[in-house]
Amino acid sequence: MEIEKSFAPTIIGMWQVSGGHGKIDNSHAVEEMYRYFKSGFHQWDLADHYGPAEDFIGELRKIILERDGENELSKLKAFTKWVPTDLKTRWTLNVDYSLKYVEDQIDISLKRMNVEKIDLLQFHWWDYEDPRLYKALDNLQKLNEKGKIDQIGLTNFSLESLKKIIEKGYKITSHQVRFSLTDARVKTEMLEYCYHHNIHLLAFGTIASGFLSNRWLNQNEPLEKDLNRGQFVHKKLIDRLGGWEKFQELLCILNKIAFKYKASISNIASKLILDQNSSTSVIIGARLSLSEHIKDNINLNLLNIPEAEFDTLNEFLTSHSKILLEDLGDIGSEYRGSSL
Ligand SMILES: NC(=O)c1ccc[n+]([C@@H]2O[C@H](COP(=O)([O-])OP(=O)(O)OC[C@H]3O[C@@H](n4cnc5c(N)ncnc54)[C@H](OP(=O)(O)O)[C@@H]3O)[C@@H](O)[C@H]2O)c1
Repeated sequence: MEIEKSFAPTIIGMWQVSGGHGKIDNSHAVEEMYRYFKSGFHQWDLADHYGPAEDFIGELRKIILERDGENELSKLKAFTKWVPTDLKTRWTLNVDYSLKYVEDQIDISLKRMNVEKIDLLQFHWWDYEDPRLYKALDNLQKLNEKGKIDQIGLTNFSLESLKKIIEKGYKITSHQVRFSLTDARVKTEMLEYCYHHNIHLLAFGTIASGFLSNRWLNQNEPLEKDLNRGQFVHKKLIDRLGGWEKFQELLCILNKIAFKYKASISNIASKLILDQNSSTSVIIGARLSLSEHIKDNINLNLLNIPEAEFDTLNEFLTSHSKILLEDLGDIGSEYRGSSL
């Protein structure tokens, strides 16, 4: 079963503009987005709570329209998320999720991104036991019918809750989850389930916030105090893998493949995930205005690596996925009280 290919293999992620990754310069950030766009990266992953990310898309749209016209602008796709959140309680207890409420939330994103329709609205939910989940989904579907949302996706749902949603007949285009050598839980069942239900898997964290790169090969273990927000999360996962030495072994395996195919360790770490099946894309985060890896990430899209090269890494993914699933809980449990 082949999913209609509306997703690029590589999508650029914007969580890094939401804070905790260094101070960004807004106008440089948008110019850098334009450079990514002109280099062929047309698809962006963001969220309503990623600081100025939705506004940046609005700015980028203006720039592309002015410089390149409507045709070029039509290539830009912005996949935002709706994460219903009360920042204090992480929960919106008194909200009824009526059509008006949901539409008001979506209208905010439409306005910020300066679009009439959201290309892909990825929905996050905190508590599976709360039946308002389905009311929210019903109303997202109504907004899809009304033309305000093109496609509906999900993010960080457990397998069980995803199955319930699909069995109830909701049309879900994609599911965004963490999937990398440092967190392979998706490989147990989620990967197959999504593939067989025509749900495109959008994998984030594939280069472990930059840890899976040449920069960290043969380097000493970093101190916690020197890590940014994303690195902090992935360093904890590296510790669960078996620690820094074990991680260095993984980097060596990646480096051997990278050397053979004139690629970088990051390329190989992402390619491993991309090649899991034809309905997977990777989201690679960018610390806009602070660091960019455009050239290296272009190389990812050009790589062709025989499946057998990944045998050792795939075995690692499979064995590690089961251990981590027992240890951490199902996908998304880190957003539901787990320690990571
Ligand atoms: N749905 C969710 O709950 C969720 C959660 C997390 C993330 N996400 C999405 O996924 C995106 C990416 O995931 P992530 O935040 O875990 O980050 P990631 O993609 O694993 O790592 C991004 C970092 O890797 C480094 N990098 C990127 N390309 C590189 C290359 N070619 N070579 C070497 N280093 C490279 C950069 O670090 P330096 O800047 O230090 O060089 C960059 O900031 C986010 O931006 C967000 O859109 C979604």
